[in-house]
Amino acid sequence: MSIFDQESVLSVHHWTDNLFSFTATRNPSFCFRSGEFTRIGFKIDENPLLRARSLASAHYEDRLEFFSIKVPDAPLTSRLQHLKEGDEIIVSREATGTLVIDNLEDGRNLYLISTGTGLAPFLSVIKDPETYLRFENVVLLHGCRRVAELAYGEMIAEKLPSDELVGDFVRYQLIYYPTVTRDSFCNRGRITDLIESGKLFTEIELPELEPQHDRVMICGSPALVRDARELLAAKGFVEGDRGAPAQFVFEKEFAERNTLSSSRKRGLHEP
Ligand code: A2P
Repeated sequence: MSIFDQESVLSVHHWTDNLFSFTATRNPSFCFRSGEFTRIGFKIDENPLLRARSLASAHYEDRLEFFSIKVPDAPLTSRLQHLKEGDEIIVSREATGTLVIDNLEDGRNLYLISTGTGLAPFLSVIKDPETYLRFENVVLLHGCRRVAELAYGEMIAEKLPSDELVGDFVRYQLIYYPTVTRDSFCNRGRITDLIESGKLFTEIELPELEPQHDRVMICGSPALVRDARELLAAKGFVEGDRGAPAQFVFEKEFAERNTLSSSRKRGLHEP
């Protein structure tokens, strides 16, 4: 059996000049856990050209969804950004990653901290009923420079609450907190600053983060991951990993590869 599935692009949505999403067919036998990533790309002269991308679709959906940056002149992303309906891509049948709730100990509140395309794995996590059975409150934080970069905001705030499968969970247990740093918006500031100042907790009406009750997943730019890890470690949170559940986890692979900021910092080169 091949280690790749060939899939067809079903739809493409461009959020900004730098961000886009697309959906593709799914081989029903391809399994993944919410929060994992796989490798996607093209076959070029029979050789696969692949990059890691988080699965933004739920594990039970019959199509795959990916949320990606656009990087001009990068071998894979420059091709990906021109995808159109009907195009063929290849998808590795192996999904993996650290951002799965099995890597966290039981707790009361689950915080999902993301910037840019770091939101992608959490789109899958918030559509999984299991997430809400494990945690009382699920707080999704998405930080971007600009309002236009707050992709999926409408889906999360307006469509998901009436979803047949998870709508009830979402209405009662999901707190969505988008924030921007370089536009005027209802929520402003870096996520780490909002946590440190306590402003976040006043606004969402939950107690400040504490290792005894809270669990955290982090996905975003390397700078965000570094600072959020430091912040959590200073509060006494212990880092978990595959097979060693603890109080917080971050995606090492994804932090380096998928974010708009890492491409910005690298002068828009593909990692
Ligand atoms: P800022 O505008 O103050 O840099 P980027 O596109 O660079 O990844 O940024 C996405 C969002 O993450 C922006 O709002 C940015 O804020 C914020 N950000 C960048 N670096 C950090 C960091 N080290 N800790 C927390 N937030 C960060």
